[in-house]
Amino acid sequence: MSNISILGMQWGDEGKGKIVDILSDKAHMVVRFQGGNNAGHTLVINNKKTILHLIPSGIFNENASCVIGNGVVIDPKVLINEIETLNKNGLKITSERLKISNNAHVIMPYHISLDLLREMKKIGTTGRGIGPAYEDKVSRKGIRVGDLLNQKILEEKIEEVLPEKNLLIEFYKGEKLKKETILSEYLKFGEYLSQFVTDTHQLLINAKKSGKNILFEGAQGILLDIDHGTYPYVTSSNTVSGNIFSGAGVGYKTIDKIVGIAKAYTTRVGEGPFPSELFDSTGDKIREQGGEFGSTTGRPRRCGWLDAVALKYAVNLNDIDSIALTKLDVLNGFDEVKICTAYNINGNEVDYFQNNCYLLKDVKPIFKTFKGWGIIKKDMVKTFDDLPNSAKDYIKAIEDIVETKISIISIGADREDTLILENIWEE
Ligand code: GDP
Ligand code: IMO
Ligand code: MG
Repeated sequence: MSNISILGMQWGDEGKGKIVDILSDKAHMVVRFQGGNNAGHTLVINNKKTILHLIPSGIFNENASCVIGNGVVIDPKVLINEIETLNKNGLKITSERLKISNNAHVIMPYHISLDLLREMKKIGTTGRGIGPAYEDKVSRKGIRVGDLLNQKILEEKIEEVLPEKNLLIEFYKGEKLKKETILSEYLKFGEYLSQFVTDTHQLLINAKKSGKNILFEGAQGILLDIDHGTYPYVTSSNTVSGNIFSGAGVGYKTIDKIVGIAKAYTTRVGEGPFPSELFDSTGDKIREQGGEFGSTTGRPRRCGWLDAVALKYAVNLNDIDSIALTKLDVLNGFDEVKICTAYNINGNEVDYFQNNCYLLKDVKPIFKTFKGWGIIKKDMVKTFDDLPNSAKDYIKAIEDIVETKISIISIGADREDTLILENIWEE
């Protein structure tokens, strides 16, 4: 038995979906523990692309049951749509394949309205109601999945919170919402989802006891963590490894290994500081070659060179054991590639991350330059040794600077385009 976690090490979209899909071939359970449908995790299997927002990325592996843990915030409409789409595409999403925590919080229509209305202030959120839903969870006004299964409780809760929400919506000059409409819609969602709803904590404990392999799938990335990210330009949940335990309902000894996912460069969607960002044609070329447009909102992603200072921060915050380096192929054809190895702060060289966004916005990146490698011919590259020499040098340099080994290299979006350098599931 071994239990592994996958975490994004940057500002999201590192390729977590692809890596979880690959590793789930040996998993009995794949578990989401935080975030919601702000996530967009892409899987490409035999050229066919699927983007998952709430269902864990193990769903294409028949032996894995997929768990949405208590720490996730769920928009039931999006979830049902995702289930229906997968069913139409030939997967059978039965109650054996999908389990939803009765304690996960529900994203209500007023959360989405308020997220969109407040975006005038510009964090650059996904507008999916994530922040407002977590606000209600913390202030104990939230509606949980289990509440959708009980008309009386749901009605009472909506009655209690809606007047205040409508006042806020009015303040932001939005359109007020009606209790009857929400109640009837959300009762229907509850009815649809009821077969999947269960005590996922108990499920995980039983899985642990019977020696099952569990894979925990992080959403977003470490630099978007509510505490340790570039606050306030962050998401509203903890993305760090520490939140696996509360977000899934297991103890800290559950995890045997953490694999951090990092792109061979850096991207960010939305606002906030980004020291290694490129504003020139090189940045445009990375965006174009990497197809760097958001999987959830379609927004163009900001692009820059790999920030190794930030990666080291992610390693230390989470005890990352090894790194899956993705999208190496996107740097094909550059004469030279760069890694940010330190920051210049008022003339001083600093080699550790600054999570204070007011400081971080003024740091100047210090780059180390490497020779480019032409084109990685995917069909010819099956092992590390098959890679062009300068690509090997680039990878070794990352391992040295970040002081962490690279265990997986991804050279294309498809499942097939992956070099596994060590057996992740066993020591
Ligand atoms: P996630 O949110 O971390 O799961 O990542 P996204 O799915 O939002 O974004 C990653 C994008 O890169 C998706 O379009 C993937 O299909 C694609 N992708 C993943 N790995 C690779 C790779 O090694 N090379 C290329 N070219 N694309 C990749
Ligand atoms: P995956 O799991 C990239 C960003 C948003 C915004 C900030 C806050 O696909 O990697 P929110 O809607 O969460 O309140 O937005 O966080 N963000 C992501 N960026 N990938 C994600 O998820 C993201 N989820 C949220 O762009 O800057
Ligand atoms: Mg994504």
